[in-house]
Amino acid sequence: MFFEPQKRDRNVLRHDPFKALIAPRPVGWVSTMDREGRVNLAPYSFFNAFSSEPPIVGFCSEGEKDSLTFARETGEFVWNMATWDLRNQMSETSAPLGRGSSEFVHAGLETAPSQLVRPPRVKASPAHLECKVTDIFHLRDVKGAEVPRFLVMGQVIGIHVDDAFIDEGIVQITKMKPIARCGYQDYTVLDRVFAIKRPEGAGNAGAGG
Ligand SMILES: Cc1cc2nc3c(=O)[nH]c(=O)nc-3n(C[C@H](O)[C@H](O)[C@H](O)COP(=O)(O)O)c2cc1C
Repeated sequence: MFFEPQKRDRNVLRHDPFKALIAPRPVGWVSTMDREGRVNLAPYSFFNAFSSEPPIVGFCSEGEKDSLTFARETGEFVWNMATWDLRNQMSETSAPLGRGSSEFVHAGLETAPSQLVRPPRVKASPAHLECKVTDIFHLRDVKGAEVPRFLVMGQVIGIHVDDAFIDEGIVQITKMKPIARCGYQDYTVLDRVFAIKRPEGAGNAGAGG
């Protein structure tokens, strides 16, 4: 079938399949702090890494949500790895709480201090990225009109990895079991990987994803 996003036949496709096709999406479990020191934590599956050197990640807020507002105010955010063990708490942190009510408290999650930025980390996560905001893009549609979507980009200035998940210098990602978002109500868990060698000359450790 072919369809234009706004014109899909809702009798055939009850739910928009767009997000089910771009899957799995890593969960950007983002902690932020506002000027008054209030803490926020929320999951963003419009999240990814965009550059390795310098390391840059970004998440997109559909509407002006607290994570965007807080990151804009103080210029910092932390990415916390959402794992299989933390799946229910991760989901709890998507509850629409009022500004000032901490999702850490709501989801029963302990905080750990960050080293180089003010927002705290999710203590139980096995990996974290401390980030400074580099850009906030107000997204536009094909007609050039601004849409209420905001892409927050941040340079990673500090990385935490739980030593228990490092073996001979390699991160044991399948032991960390990060979860990722699929479409509808679905998620997946990274518990298996396979390797493919890049073509000769492409440089397995070189630039590019
Ligand atoms: C797994 C998951 C992924 C989500 N991804 C996004 C996203 O990419 N963008 C977005 O605007 N909301 C997303 N949401 C919804 C937000 O987490 C939710 O609106 C939350 O209340 C926002 O919190 P905040 O206002 O404290 O930032 C997602 C929710 C879940 C459970």
